[in-house]
Amino acid sequence: MRLVHFSDVHVGGLTADPTACLDKRLAGLLNFMVRRRGRLHTDYLARALHRIRGLAPDLVVITGDLTTIGSSEEFATVLELLAPLLNSRQEVFYLPGNHDAYVSQRHCRAALEDAFHRLNRGRWRLEELPVRFAVGPLTLLAVNECRPTAPWQSCGYLTPAATGQLLAWLDAPRHDGEKRLLIGHFPLRDSAGRRLGWRRRLHGADPLAAALGDGRLDLALCGHIHTPFRRDEANGAMELCAGALTLHGLLNVVDYSPASGRFSQHWESVADDGPAPTLVGPILDPAGAGQ
Ligand SMILES: [Fe+2]
Ligand SMILES: [Fe+2]
Repeated sequence: MRLVHFSDVHVGGLTADPTACLDKRLAGLLNFMVRRRGRLHTDYLARALHRIRGLAPDLVVITGDLTTIGSSEEFATVLELLAPLLNSRQEVFYLPGNHDAYVSQRHCRAALEDAFHRLNRGRWRLEELPVRFAVGPLTLLAVNECRPTAPWQSCGYLTPAATGQLLAWLDAPRHDGEKRLLIGHFPLRDSAGRRLGWRRRLHGADPLAAALGDGRLDLALCGHIHTPFRRDEANGAMELCAGALTLHGLLNVVDYSPASGRFSQHWESVADDGPAPTLVGPILDPAGAGQ
């Protein structure tokens, strides 16, 4: 049983909407032009899709931030780049990042809903999240933590209703051999196990961080922090942040053996600078960068 996970592609800087200059999108576009454009390797996405074919996963998980300002032009571009995945028989699960739900303009929301619908093969509508679904013995709990925020924020929110639903699923008895995974955009904790800063954290994450610590959750997959990390809990649970694919070129590969009941994890690199590293534990700078 294999999952391949990537995040934060951040196709960016595209919109023909003049009203983008009147809201948060202006700051997002300027940030993209000044800080990001020269550093992003959009070609890593094509390489990643090629590598994924060889890895033959049971599910590909994309934890959001496909775009920069959540515009219809950006979603159209990234869906075109993802066409090899969309046109294959590969099972995919995608949920939004804060950049995909950047502003509340109707056409931006419609583009997000369309991308969600297409990438998830029409299985759910976005407003149905959180959802629970099975991949073999794995139960995946997926939650939308993103909604438009003020320009100076890149944080997310767990609503009381979503938290209640997730905890009800986690508190229910497990069936034989069942493992439980959380899929969200935001890390529950950083690579050192601390809360993220107020401006970019997931507000309301504490009950889920507790569930990872006490064994009700086995694995949490996320993005948002652009530096990939793996954090191991004392009980063997893991939080895995895939980082920004187009910055670091890493795919997070998670294998589960029903025979042993154990997960194993490694990183596959599609970056320019060499073969795939096998990295264990927190990697690169623990502070992380990005949103
Ligand atoms: Fe993000
Ligand atoms: Fe991001």
